[in-house]
Amino acid sequence: MELANDKGWSCPYLLCKFVIRKKGVVELGRRSCASCHTRVMPDGTLLEGAQGMVRLFGSSAGMTPERLRDLQDALWARVGAPWVQSKESFRELVTIDWYTKLLQASRNGVFPRQGTSLTHPVHAPSLIGIQDIRFLDATGLVRHRSIGDLMRYAVINSGLDMLAEYGDFRPSAHTSSVAAEDGTRYSDEQLYAMALCIGSLQPPPNTNRVDDRVRRGQRIFGQQGCAGCHTPPLYTNNKLTPATGFSVPDDLLKSGDVLNVSVGTDPTLALKTRRGTGFYKVPSLRGVWYRNAFGHGGWAETLEEWFDPARLNDNYVAKGFHLGPGPIKGHEFGLRIPPDDRKDLIAFLRTL
Ligand code: HEC
Ligand code: HEC
Repeated sequence: MELANDKGWSCPYLLCKFVIRKKGVVELGRRSCASCHTRVMPDGTLLEGAQGMVRLFGSSAGMTPERLRDLQDALWARVGAPWVQSKESFRELVTIDWYTKLLQASRNGVFPRQGTSLTHPVHAPSLIGIQDIRFLDATGLVRHRSIGDLMRYAVINSGLDMLAEYGDFRPSAHTSSVAAEDGTRYSDEQLYAMALCIGSLQPPPNTNRVDDRVRRGQRIFGQQGCAGCHTPPLYTNNKLTPATGFSVPDDLLKSGDVLNVSVGTDPTLALKTRRGTGFYKVPSLRGVWYRNAFGHGGWAETLEEWFDPARLNDNYVAKGFHLGPGPIKGHEFGLRIPPDDRKDLIAFLRTL
């Protein structure tokens, strides 16, 4: 479905719907949760709650200076962090050529969600099985202790976070109220129903069979110490690991939520964005067989690429999101084992 909005940009979302909230007024509903958390499977079926295919859409063709300025403002509201970069230098960076490059670098499943970064966007996670996951977002920004936390997460990420104040910086210039009564946010009842619905989502039947190769892969998973972090049955220990360069405050070390070992991936998202916490959570490996875009930035398109030692090379060209050649840094686990063992390990991961 292709629709044009008032700025002439085409609608990037597949799942736009017409909604009627007030008698006589038809509105276009977009940016529903489903638009980023629904996967189009290879046979064309839709899998609700799975990692979405969302990416940065658009075109810079024929962009006028006024449109560029509007775009810069919109992007600044989405990802600006004035304590890292001034609005002026952000504007200087976002030229038409640069934006064209960014669109080319964009990949399905990787998106500069508000509060992340254009140069360091984040992969869309799967929501299937989310009820077992104790921290939400790649940086573990939000604790997930109960269904109430999931409801709050949903409402905050539906626009409230754009009204948050970071010192004297507020991402959105709008001052409109956000209230359930006038329909500008989901009501508590709707949020509860939605969270129950998300919690009921089931993975698709896994057609990858357990055979000798998979059993070998499972042994390698144990021998390589993967289970220390990706602990069965959730295939995560539900802990946070510090990003490179972040020293963990003592009280957090004592909390039991932190494994004080950095896996050495790119620290930008954790240290320099509005969603930054200093940490990356240990992701669950359940369902990796129907996902792409590995690593929190979606740099590795496939599991084969994530476990390819060549990705550490300085001139490496990633198949996932990348703005230029360079290594996919960190998480070197499983990279130094013989190629056949890596294949077995991946075969095992595909059964989870
Ligand atoms: C425009 C795309 C988009 C929309 C719309 C969207 N999400 Fe997300 N969602 C993301 C991305 C990208 C992330 C990863 C953010 C991060 O890791 O920092 C995410 C993260 C999450 C997480 C954390 C999951 C985890 O494993 O850490 C939850 C829960 C979630 N979204 C639920 C929702 C709900 C509920 C809605 C609707 C109210 C929604 N999302 C709408 C893209 C979207
Ligand atoms: C010290 C803890 C630790 C160990 C040991 C570890 N991992 Fe990880 N793993 C992580 C963290 C943290 C991430 C997320 C890193 C990021 O995105 O920045 C991750 C990410 C991954 C991903 C990408 C998942 C995704 O959603 O993008 C895969 C696949 C993976 N690990 C598999 C393994 C395997 C297989 C092993 C053993 C060979 C292993 N890991 C060992 C902590 C660990």
